[in-house]
Amino acid sequence: MTTRDELVAWWKWFSERECRGYSPLYESISNAVAAADDLHDRLLAEPNHVRQPNMLLATMHDLVLRGAAPELATLYDGTAPPGADAGPLFVDVALRRWEELVPVLEARRTQTNEVGRVGVLAPALATLVTHEPTTLIDVGTSAGLTLTLPHCLIDYGERGTLGPADSPVHVECEILRGDPPIRPTAITRRIGLDRRPLDPNDPDDARWLLACTWPDTGRLERTRLALDLAVAHPCELRTGDAVTDLPALLAEIDGPIVVTTTWALAYLPDHARAAFVDVLAAGSVDRPVSWVSVEAPTVVEGLPEIDSPAVEGISASVVGATLFRGGEVTERHTLGHAHAHGRWIWWHQ
Ligand SMILES: C[S@@+](CC[C@H](N)C(=O)[O-])C[C@H]1O[C@@H](n2cnc3c(N)ncnc32)[C@H](O)[C@@H]1O
Repeated sequence: MTTRDELVAWWKWFSERECRGYSPLYESISNAVAAADDLHDRLLAEPNHVRQPNMLLATMHDLVLRGAAPELATLYDGTAPPGADAGPLFVDVALRRWEELVPVLEARRTQTNEVGRVGVLAPALATLVTHEPTTLIDVGTSAGLTLTLPHCLIDYGERGTLGPADSPVHVECEILRGDPPIRPTAITRRIGLDRRPLDPNDPDDARWLLACTWPDTGRLERTRLALDLAVAHPCELRTGDAVTDLPALLAEIDGPIVVTTTWALAYLPDHARAAFVDVLAAGSVDRPVSWVSVEAPTVVEGLPEIDSPAVEGISASVVGATLFRGGEVTERHTLGHAHAHGRWIWWHQ
């Protein structure tokens, strides 16, 4: 049970550690919420997950995107006069419109989907998927935006581009080191699995995904375009758990399978992460299964440890490859490190 003091500390921490230097809008809002006793009363009366700062921020953003909070619209879209302070206004709107916010707060969970990660996935998949037609399963797929990989234009600078030149979704991925393979793969079928998939065709789901994207960080427009791309090139999205529902999905597929997890395994408790590996091993008894993981350091056990490059002072994601053959793990590789949203890769292979 969260206490009032813990709630205040959480919002202050969030402002300083998550927002400062990245989202001035959410920094000022988080400071104002940290000081708003009336709002704490409302939050403390709600279930635990609602108290996460990202939940209230996304729910208010959803209201703004619906055009239902015009007072905040220019602050969110960056057209407000310089110096305008969003914090007090946010608190005022939240208190006045609380009854409208509650149903969304209670029904939803924060869910992001970063299409920029295709720039990191492409060379990892090119390393593992060779010539045979292969099925890709993206576990923890959210709205399936990384499954749009073949339809995105990925720009690797001097190393050239991958994907259609006229794609509306343009992903820049800088290669800081190494020589990753830049080529299309033999993937013939793409399936996304998530315990709460967001349907890009459903206006409420699509808006919620945008609402979970921070407004002043430059990621909103590309996410919008990626949602349109996912509608234009639909993939199979399945509702199911990464551990309990994956065996049945693997069993219905013939031939080689490559599984991807990008910032998804981190959401599983330790015992479920181990069970996930067991499921992949069991699925490889009569055909090869490979797993590309792009996760925070220490999330995937057993990958060879290679020091994370110090780039921009941030913690890089680890790009791992785990191969399963004949029912067991046969190889583990640390392919590289990458920016969490795919802005760069540092290739070790
Ligand atoms: C941070 S999002 C990452 C989405 C996407 N992979 C990306 O890189 O943008 C994590 C996703 O994992 C899903 N998830 C968490 N636990 C899961 C589980 N046990 N089984 C299936 N999906 C899960 C969540 O619903 C959410 O959509």
